[in-house]
Amino acid sequence: MMLRSNPDDQIKHAFSPFRLRKLQLKNRFIKSATYEGMYKNGMPTGRLTEFHSRLAEGGISMTTVAYGAVNDMGRTHAEQMYIHDEVMPMLENLTASVHQYRCAASIQLTHCGYFSRNKQIKGQNPLAPSRRLNMYGTMEGLIYSKSMSEEEIFQTAEAFSSAASFSKRAGFDAVEIHMGHGYLISQFLSPTINFRTDKYGGSLKNRLRFPLLVLEKVREAVGQDYPVLCKMNLEDGFVGGLKINESIEIARALEKSGADALVLSGGYTSKTPFYLMRGEVPLWQMIRAERKLIQKIAMAVLGKVIIRKYRFEENFFLPLAGKIRQAVNLPLVYLGGVVSADGVNQIMKEGFDMIAIGRALIHDPDFISHIEKDRSHISECNHCNQCVAEMDRDGVRCVLVE
Ligand SMILES: Cc1cc2nc3c(=O)[nH]c(=O)nc-3n(C[C@H](O)[C@H](O)[C@H](O)COP(=O)(O)O)c2cc1C
Repeated sequence: MMLRSNPDDQIKHAFSPFRLRKLQLKNRFIKSATYEGMYKNGMPTGRLTEFHSRLAEGGISMTTVAYGAVNDMGRTHAEQMYIHDEVMPMLENLTASVHQYRCAASIQLTHCGYFSRNKQIKGQNPLAPSRRLNMYGTMEGLIYSKSMSEEEIFQTAEAFSSAASFSKRAGFDAVEIHMGHGYLISQFLSPTINFRTDKYGGSLKNRLRFPLLVLEKVREAVGQDYPVLCKMNLEDGFVGGLKINESIEIARALEKSGADALVLSGGYTSKTPFYLMRGEVPLWQMIRAERKLIQKIAMAVLGKVIIRKYRFEENFFLPLAGKIRQAVNLPLVYLGGVVSADGVNQIMKEGFDMIAIGRALIHDPDFISHIEKDRSHISECNHCNQCVAEMDRDGVRCVLVE
């Protein structure tokens, strides 16, 4: 139980500078990647720059552009941005704008794996460690995934590496490799999703081979001075998914292989999407945001059964994240349910180096200035999670704010 009235001085530590390789951050608060939905036919709109600039103005030290698909196959749907030459001017503009506020910019590099309804790849099956049913893509005819060949594994690792050097050229100060939430790298790590029998499946050592290849290739591309963060799961949140005993080993392996920081999260988008957020499931708003009638009907019929709700608690990942803290020495970014100064205090006390925040900053981009000035301030984000429906409707926003 956290005391509301007695935050001690650890919070000052959260407002002190932090260094990641050559990148000097003015404080320890990062905006976590939250898919913005501010794209048209795969191209970022000006709203993406406005969104991140406003966050930067609010005082965080680094903002993260969400879901930078490393190639067109890596997109979950065709609206999403993927890294290619045409997006360079928009991303250069975004990073320059964010930098005006002494804020760094990071980009999340991602591949969706089987979790795809990107009709532009019709005729090809989405890539995954193993062939499996892809319920999410059935209406688009992307019913099964294809088990990746060794060549495809290598080419995809190369795509992460090209996307990383592209991002560096676009002015990003860091990249975050998405290894969690049930996307491609997470699919390789998950014991019951990856059932390959070659050197990329089976034992944890084998399941780690592709994630570590990606990290190695990205490092080669960006050089030794450039920060590479990895976002990984503490647990997948379903029976047969990744558990904390294995994620401790994953954290150790990433540390040994030169990751600069780990962002700790959990959950699996195609199975346990609200495990990573907790709070309400905005089913009706999600149905409203869905464009296809048949998909709306499927969600209305099956949504309540399939999409599980998890109770929100402040700092909900702290007990699991603490186990990783005890096992590794590299910088760790705490993420999940940060809403108050007392909560920040607690996280700092437990030895985390940085704090990533999603919804409290979507609700109020000045959230960290408020907790700096007023230690009793608590975010008014009520975890209704309607921002999740909004991101697919007209771009992420908090419905509590006009
Ligand atoms: C609207 C929305 C979109 C999200 N999109 C992403 C994403 O693209 N990539 C990602 O790694 N996490 C994504 N997340 C998860 C957040 O980064 C974060 O892990 C989660 O919201 C818990 O942090 P919070 O309690 O501070 O909000 C998203 C969360 C929300 C609410």
